[in-house]
Amino acid sequence: MKSIKVKLYLYTFSMVFLILVATFILQGNIIERGFSGSLKQSMESYAAEISKYITSNRNYQYLAEQIAASINGRVSVYDSSGTLMESYGRLMFGRTARTEREILGEVLSGRTVYRTDQRNFQRSTVSTLGFPAKKDDKVIAAIFIHSPLSGIKSEVKNTMKNILALFLIASAVSFAGAYLLSNSFTRPILKITGAAKEISSGNYDVRISVENRDEIGELAQTINELAKSLKNYENLRRDFIANTTHELRTPISIIKSYAEAIYDGILNSEEVKEYSYSIIEESDKLNNLVNEILELSKLQSGGIKLNLKMINLKILLEGILKELEILKGDRTIHTDLDDIAAAGDEELLKRAFTNIIINAVNHTGPSGNIYISSKQNGKWAVISISDDGPGIDERDLPYIFNRFFSKDKRRAGGLGLAIANEIVMMHSGRIEVKSKKGSGSVFMVILPSVP
Ligand SMILES: Nc1ncnc2c1ncn2[C@@H]1O[C@H](COP(=O)(O)OP(=O)(O)O)[C@@H](O)[C@H]1O
Ligand SMILES: [Mg+2]
Repeated sequence: MKSIKVKLYLYTFSMVFLILVATFILQGNIIERGFSGSLKQSMESYAAEISKYITSNRNYQYLAEQIAASINGRVSVYDSSGTLMESYGRLMFGRTARTEREILGEVLSGRTVYRTDQRNFQRSTVSTLGFPAKKDDKVIAAIFIHSPLSGIKSEVKNTMKNILALFLIASAVSFAGAYLLSNSFTRPILKITGAAKEISSGNYDVRISVENRDEIGELAQTINELAKSLKNYENLRRDFIANTTHELRTPISIIKSYAEAIYDGILNSEEVKEYSYSIIEESDKLNNLVNEILELSKLQSGGIKLNLKMINLKILLEGILKELEILKGDRTIHTDLDDIAAAGDEELLKRAFTNIIINAVNHTGPSGNIYISSKQNGKWAVISISDDGPGIDERDLPYIFNRFFSKDKRRAGGLGLAIANEIVMMHSGRIEVKSKKGSGSVFMVILPSVP
């Protein structure tokens, strides 16, 4: 496996390097062309200037001399018959005279000639401009300007040297930059990989500290969140096992002690009957508890699919109340039920409401009052179940939906509200509780309704 670090490094560096090389080559060409282009132009303007002097019969000698000196070259002027009139400046081993002879005819015929001569044996290049001085469209003189290119060449060379130095510096900087870049990219990734390995080996306390505010930072954040929720989940699972084991042990030990008493044969027949009845009761409780545990874990693992139907909540609640007729004893249940339709799983919703109503029954005195209403509130169906029982301590309120919660630690709480809550949440609803110690409780089940 080639690591991202190396790949990133190679890509970045070679890209920058290629760009630098291309720039370097281009730059060299442009500079050389720029220099010789501007040389030709200035030679043309010099020649035009001299030509102006000649055509207006002014004395051009001083000007020509100046020009020859300033370009460190040579200026010659021929008359229209091809006779050399004047010549100024540096002698260049006769090559200027030779060039002049070669192109004199062409210039005298009225054409401007520009030529760059490379003479290898002299290892220097000379640019020559032949310029016809015209008066009334007639050539009256030929002007030659020779400019050695050696100055330009060395100028170009100097510039290229500077650029080369810049190029080397830029290469070094990009070399280091690519290294730092690839490092800074891969460091957080390595951190994340390390953390993910820790998590997979069961250490959910790891947190990645990545300051990046980009996709990598987001990934680190997500992994942190994952670790957090895994830890949460793990805690829940541990609690659940601990609580469940505890809850199952109590009835089992009761059953065992009753059975032992019967087995010992010290009880009279009346007592045997009583103890046997208790065993049956505890077994039922145990059975219920096991069913509830199974149901809740199925609900929570998402193993239950909602069998959605249109439900008339009034009819559903009336059915539940009929079934609880015996259980409620002498308590009075006041109802104020509107016809409200909601989409839901009939069986599960029945379970949820039953759990809450049974709680209300269990927590009111034998002649207490229970109030049940169903009302439409905008897009919501609100089913309120309240009682005039002892209420719930404010400090306990946040916990009553937890498994096995009981404010009375001696008596184990059940799973009724936990199951009801899970079912209502599956229906995209929620349960709200209002209660004050001593003044009853109100449970409000709020479900999305179909108007
Ligand atoms: N109507 C109510 N009035 C007072 N306390 C209640 C009421 N409903 C629930 N509770 C409290 O919430 C706890 C959890 O209820 P639940 O989950 O149904 O378990 P269980 O009813 O088996 O104890 C109960 O033990 C009780 O303390
Ligand atoms: Mg209950």
